[in-house]
This record gives sequence, C-alpha cells and structure tokens, in this order.
Amino acid sequence: MANSLTIAGIDAGYGAVRVLDGVSLTVGAGETVALLGTNGNGKSTLMKSVMGMVRPSKGSIKAVIDGNEHELIGRSTEEIVDLGIGFVPEGRRLFPKLTVTENLLLGAFRPKARSQINRNLDFCLETFPRLKERAQQLAGSMSGGEQQMLALARALMSAPRILLIDEPSVGLAPVQVYGELRSVARDWSDQMAADGARSDACCAATAVLPPNQKSVERSG
Ligand SMILES: Nc1ncnc2c1ncn2[C@@H]1O[C@H](COP(=O)(O)OP(=O)(O)OP(=O)(O)O)[C@@H](O)[C@H]1O
Ligand SMILES: [Mg+2]
Repeated sequence: MANSLTIAGIDAGYGAVRVLDGVSLTVGAGETVALLGTNGNGKSTLMKSVMGMVRPSKGSIKAVIDGNEHELIGRSTEEIVDLGIGFVPEGRRLFPKLTVTENLLLGAFRPKARSQINRNLDFCLETFPRLKERAQQLAGSMSGGEQQMLALARALMSAPRILLIDEPSVGLAPVQVYGELRSVARDWSDQMAADGARSDACCAATAVLPPNQKSVERSG
C-alpha cells in the first residue's frame, strides 16, 4: 500500500457536545478529497481529530505512510506531523511578524523535513512565484490569497505524505483554488517520489457549502 487516510466510525466533540457521530471517510493514494458542509457541521473538528487536537471517543483513524500503517488516535499532534501528515489550519496561523522565508523555514521542523529543506524550499518558490517575489516581506502584510499560498507552502515544507487543508478557499475563488490544489498535490507527489516515497501523496480539504445545500463530494 502507499499513502492513504482511513477514518472509520469516529465520534468526537467538546465535553458533552457531540459534533461527529459515526463519521467515516477514505482518502486514497493520489486522491484529493474535498469535504463540503455548512458552517458548524464539524469539518474542522474532523481535521483536528486526525491531527490529534481533538480526541475521538470511538472509531479509528488509520494513516498508511510509505506502506506502513499507523493508528493516529492516541498520538500527539507532534507525533502525527512527524509521521508525515501536514496540516493547514483554518485561519492560516502564520507568524505575521516573520518574513515569508522565515515562515517557510519554520514549516520544516520535523527531522525528516530538515534534511530536504533546500529542495522543498525550491519546490515551494517555483510553485508559488508570488512567494519568491515577496520572500523578505512580513507574512502579516501579505494579501489574504498570498497568505493562503504561504500557509499551504509552509505545510509542504514539513514534507508530508498526507496533507490536510482546512478551508483553502477562504477569500479566494473556490473553483480555481481546488483546481490548483489538485495540480500542486500532483506535483508534490512527483517530488516525494524522487525521495523514495512508495506512491502518490494524498490530500483532503474542506469547503463551506451554502446553508441550503447538504452533500459530500469526492473526486480523483
Ligand atoms: N473548542 C470548542 N468548544 C466547544 N464547542 C466547539 C469548539 N470548537 C468547535 N465547537 C463547536 O463544534 C461544532 C463544529 O465546529 P467546527 O469548527 O468543526 O465546524 P466547521 O464545519 O468547521 O464550521 P465552519 O464552516 O464554520 O468552519 C460547532 O457547533 C462549534 O460551535
Ligand atoms: Mg471550520
């Protein structure tokens, strides 16, 4: 097997408030899966559950990374990132008073990413030329869309096999963002293959649906 994420029957919430009830989702190798839902229906909670920031009371979350399977429930966020799972949180959480380059370098803190820092930095600056132009600009003074690119590039600097992105399209044109995301995910898979990854990286992202629509979509 390659790189994949399998969430099976998880329940999770905050104290007595149950947000997720028996949620299951699979993201296969090379897939980009978009999770759609109205405000407050638990998209971010699902991503936080994968990242060990919310602990599910039931179910399992299994990641296969370069052919090895790991149960994620019970692990710390640091361990999960260290396994090769990257996360772009809602609201980006950049370091506004640090430059674009400094934010990118901070993304590469896990040991495996440190050894590939120059190569992955080149990948990010080629993929997002705007970040190259603005390398010395403070992150907090970048436009909303530029900050989103930086948050995504910073997550790539952790050399992930599986990438989770919570609301990449905030303030941007969603159709264009999801198209670009797929192409970045494909290029990233090629980059990781050069590093001996056993197969395609995979990617999950969320987006907000208008309140009158309720559905979950998937696409390869
Ligand atoms: N730390 C918390 N403590 C208590 N309740 C919370 C907490 N975080 C989220 N919730 C509640 O859990 C529910 C799901 O929130 P979540 O952030 O997962 O939704 P979402 O689908 O990401 O929404 P949005 O589209 O607005 O980002 C909401 O009702 C929210 O109020
Ligand atoms: Mg959310």
